[in-house]
Amino acid sequence: MDKDRIITAMSTKEDEDQTLRPTTLSQYIGQTDIKEMLDIYIKAALKREEALDHMLLYGPPGLGKTTLAQIVAHELNVNIKITSGPAIERSGDLAAVLSSLEPGDVLFIDEIHRLPRFVEEVLYAAMEDYVLDIVIGKDHESRSIRIDLPPFTLIGATTRFGDLSAPLRDRFGVVFRLNYYDVEDLEKIVRRTSGVYQNQIDEDAVISLAKRSRGTPRIANRLFRRVRDFAEIIGDGIITKEITDHALTKLGIDHNGLDHTDYRYLKAIVDKFDGGPVGIETIAASISEEMITVEDVYEPYLLMEGYIKRTARGRMATEKTYQALGIKYYKGIFDK
Ligand SMILES: Nc1ncnc2c1ncn2[C@@H]1O[C@H](COP(=O)(O)OP(=O)(O)OP(=O)(O)O)[C@@H](O)[C@H]1O
Ligand SMILES: [Mg+2]
Repeated sequence: MDKDRIITAMSTKEDEDQTLRPTTLSQYIGQTDIKEMLDIYIKAALKREEALDHMLLYGPPGLGKTTLAQIVAHELNVNIKITSGPAIERSGDLAAVLSSLEPGDVLFIDEIHRLPRFVEEVLYAAMEDYVLDIVIGKDHESRSIRIDLPPFTLIGATTRFGDLSAPLRDRFGVVFRLNYYDVEDLEKIVRRTSGVYQNQIDEDAVISLAKRSRGTPRIANRLFRRVRDFAEIIGDGIITKEITDHALTKLGIDHNGLDHTDYRYLKAIVDKFDGGPVGIETIAASISEEMITVEDVYEPYLLMEGYIKRTARGRMATEKTYQALGIKYYKGIFDK
């Protein structure tokens, strides 16, 4: 399963190492456009002594959504309350967390696309007018009461922007899409991590790690920790390129930064479906995975790197796929 993958972007317990989380905007590496805008919005909110506009952060797992939400609260000098869509089962749960907010506080709702619809509806008025409409009593005895809330900032995070209802989406004044990090930014993240952990790392090892981190800080940090283990046990603690490459090979990550799960997926398209086009449901079924996992976790990096193409009729292998699989690419006369 995907959780066992060393290069899964999904969070594991070990990833929740808070010491690695940057706490200020200036420590947050990359995402320059977002940082520039946020810096202005934060300063403006502070100057006006108002709550920051509600903000939606979306993008693949491990790119720093939660981190950014915490930074915003820190820069605004306010508290952050953290919850998630699936954790709020009843509107009472939402009422409880909303009424615990102090003026200007940040409420962070992770996986906001998974909020139950009726909870979402309570959230609308809270976001728009800072009020909480709750129904008390039952049946004909029931009545609605309105409670005033302090001004607050809702920060929602999601990996699935498309699953958000339009009315909810429209209530966010600021929407940021986080992008995969380029190798240069990942190098900075690796260097920063080596500083925090106080591990010496050679420059060519930094590059090697950055290149295999799939554009994702969480993966960079996780690979760093594994390589560090190797350096401490089979080396003298210094993370060299040699140790890095040895460790990554042992971990099943090849020079392309791909692992067996990637290859299983790519091989399915090539071997079972002649390189496509093939629908995502069909691929998922053929490798016994859920479609959502395939779409959210397996594919984004492969798409970005050009290992697959998304067409109207389904996924297609590319020349790069065949190269990676070591199969001769045959450009047919009916080439699409
Ligand atoms: N811009 C960054 N600079 C430095 N480190 C970062 C940055 N973004 C993320 N990280 C590191 O990567 C880790 C994962 O980030 P984070 O938990 O914020 O991702 P996420 O987008 O919330 O993921 P998920 O979708 O799984 O909730 C953080 O703990 C942090 O150490
Ligand atoms: Mg998160």
